[in-house]
Amino acid sequence: MKTMIVTGAGGGLGEQIALRASQAGYRVGLVDVDEQKVQAAAARIGGNAVGFRADASSESDIEAVLDQFGDVPDVLVNNAGIVRFGPLLEQSAEAFRKVVDVNLVGCFIAAKAVAKRMVKRGSGAIINITSINAVHPGPGAGAYPASKAAVASLTQHMSLEWGPQGLRVNAIAPGFIDAGMSAPIYADPKVRKLRGGAVPQRRLGVADDIANAALFLASEQAGYINGHELVVDGGVVNSVLLQLPRD
Ligand SMILES: NC(=O)c1ccc[n+]([C@@H]2O[C@H](COP(=O)([O-])OP(=O)(O)OC[C@H]3O[C@@H](n4cnc5c(N)ncnc54)[C@H](O)[C@@H]3O)[C@@H](O)[C@H]2O)c1
Repeated sequence: MKTMIVTGAGGGLGEQIALRASQAGYRVGLVDVDEQKVQAAAARIGGNAVGFRADASSESDIEAVLDQFGDVPDVLVNNAGIVRFGPLLEQSAEAFRKVVDVNLVGCFIAAKAVAKRMVKRGSGAIINITSINAVHPGPGAGAYPASKAAVASLTQHMSLEWGPQGLRVNAIAPGFIDAGMSAPIYADPKVRKLRGGAVPQRRLGVADDIANAALFLASEQAGYINGHELVVDGGVVNSVLLQLPRD
C-alpha cells in the first residue's frame, strides 16, 4: 500500500488532498499543529487515516511523526501555511518571521526529514503548495507572497539535488480557491461573483481542483515531471491582458 503524509491537513485543502489520497488507496498521515482539527479530519476520512499533532516548523515534531508513522512515505505534501494580513508598513517583524517560519522553513524541515528517508529507498515524490501570490503579490498579504516565492525556488533546488537519488519534487500554485483560508473571503456573495467572474473559466476553484492536481503529481503518470510548478487557477495568472482597455 502506498503512503502519503500531508501537513496542515486539519481542514481546507490539506484535508481534501488526504481524503482523495485515502480514496485512491493510500495510507495517509495527517499532520497539523491543531490537535482537535487534525483528529477530527482523520476521523472524517476514516479507513486507515491517522492524525498527528505536530508543528511542521519543528524538526523534533516532524521526526516524531515519521517515527510513529512507521513506513517511509511514498509522498509528502507540504501544505501547512499561514498568512498574516496587513500593509507592509504595519507588519511587525515578528508576524513576518512567523509566516516565513511556517511556510518556508517548515517546508524545508518536513521535506528534509522525509527526503533523508526517501533517498535511502531511492524513490519518493514531494509536493509543495505555493500560491499564485508567489508571482503576483496581493497587497496586504504581508510576508505571504515572498514566502511562497521562496518555496517555489526551493522546489526547483530540491528537484536538482534529489532528482539523481530517485525523488521528484514539484509544486502546486493554487489560484482563487473557495476553501480553507480563503473561504471567509468568498462567504460574501458579492466577492464570490466578482472574483469568480474575473477567472477565464468563470468560476472560483474548489479544494478538489487542488487535490486532483496533487494526486496527479504524486502518481506514476507524472513520473518524468520534476521541479515543475503546476498553476491551478482556471487561467487567472495569464489574464492580465484582459484588463487592457479596448474600444
Ligand atoms: N485557500 C486558498 O485560496 C489558497 C490559495 C493559494 C494557496 N493556498 C495554500 O494552500 C495551503 C492550505 O491552505 P488552506 O487554504 O487549506 O488553509 P487552512 O488555513 O484551511 O489550512 C492550513 C492548515 O495548516 C495548519 N497549520 C498552520 N500552521 C501550521 C504548522 N506550523 N504546522 C502544521 N500545521 C500548521 C492550520 O492549523 C490549518 O489546518 C497553504 O499552504 C496555503 O498557503 C491556499
